Amino acid sequence: MSFDIRRLSERKLSGEALSGEELRWVIEAYTAGEIGDAPVAAWLMAVCAKGLSDEETWHLTQAMAHSGQMLDLSSIARPTVDKHSTGGVGDKVTLVAGPIAAACGVCVPKMSGRGLGHTGGTIDKLEAIAGLRTDLSAEQFIAQAREMGLVVASQSSDLAPADGKLYALRDATGTVDSRGLIASSIMSKKIASGAEAIVLEVTVGSGAFMGTVEEARALAGLMIALGERAGRRMAALLTDMNRPLGRAVGNAVEVEEAAAVLAGGGPADVREVSLEIAALMLVTAGVQCDLPAARECAGSALRSGAAAEKFAEMVRAQRGDPSALDRTLLGHAPAHIADFGADDSGIVTRMDALSVGRAALAAGAGRRRKGDSVDPATGLRIISAEGERTERGVPVIEVLAASEQHAEVALEELRRGIVISDRPAEQRPPMLELMSSRMSSEDSR
Ligand code: URA
Repeated sequence: MSFDIRRLSERKLSGEALSGEELRWVIEAYTAGEIGDAPVAAWLMAVCAKGLSDEETWHLTQAMAHSGQMLDLSSIARPTVDKHSTGGVGDKVTLVAGPIAAACGVCVPKMSGRGLGHTGGTIDKLEAIAGLRTDLSAEQFIAQAREMGLVVASQSSDLAPADGKLYALRDATGTVDSRGLIASSIMSKKIASGAEAIVLEVTVGSGAFMGTVEEARALAGLMIALGERAGRRMAALLTDMNRPLGRAVGNAVEVEEAAAVLAGGGPADVREVSLEIAALMLVTAGVQCDLPAARECAGSALRSGAAAEKFAEMVRAQRGDPSALDRTLLGHAPAHIADFGADDSGIVTRMDALSVGRAALAAGAGRRRKGDSVDPATGLRIISAEGERTERGVPVIEVLAASEQHAEVALEELRRGIVISDRPAEQRPPMLELMSSRMSSEDSR
């Protein structure tokens, strides 16, 4: 059966919902190259203007999930649980929560993406470890998951290829920002990745896709419903992304911070969010009966060093050099270092996540377009975080840059987003809300 894409766009624009058969056709015909970018871009604009019903979002998700390989994880004996973040600045939670959850007995088979724009990507961060491979075949991915319970690899091109193609077009045509399109894009990949349980970290604030708690709640609710309809157990944690998470933003510098948290130190916000995500992973996977018990298990895996050992084991299995984790910036050296300092002593009243993310990108840590390369040595070290006091002449942020010019642009971005004054900062807890149909409200803090 074939349809006329222009007619479908007109109907969408007039407010009609499209059928499952029509949406499946759009995805199949576009992936096969039978319809070009221009008419699909027009359809995407109609979708952004009118939105998608829950039923349409479900059919789109299913069509994209089934556009490529559906990973079969049935050979893995342990319960499998995946984790996804909707993106942030300084968000290295996967690198901490994954090993903690794996050390507590679940299997974490995780496919991750690269950074784009001001948000970082786990694969870029992991590749800052000398020798580490993320381009695993499906067989290698499943074998490592089976043997050691933890694998983080780059998303294979066979997994939800329709989403890869559609996302590139959305990026080029300014049609990323639609709840139904974001939910179907994320959930098609997660459903195709095969885990029985999925925990979502849905970020909220200036550095996130979702600016308000209401928007984030709506996105999380939609993704939970899509996952449950596909037979997966789901939970979501809404986290603050108005300011960066932790004190490191970039690639090697974020792995260094994740390793510090796994070693028992590091910033409190990274530790807290990672422990809570790990605990949610344990309950959602069904290996712990409630959140208090799961928190206990996660905390003890962190304190005992079992999680740090699990991370080192994963690095070794993916041919990385775990001794790099003991070196400053994993042994990388940035070409140029500059300081962002305060003109006067005072309190860091505001440190805007978006500006900090853009500064890290400008320093060399991110990519403006898909396919750009990143410099693993670059990024930012936050010396005084939002709410902390700083003194005149003392650096607030150290900029690790690819060149002096890169550093200049990064400093300009920081000037836009950092306010130092005598006013206290707004109180912002790093964790905002837990969403799950499986956990009782008394489980929440
Ligand atoms: N991340 C995705 O994978 N897809 C989107 O549409 C937005 C964020």
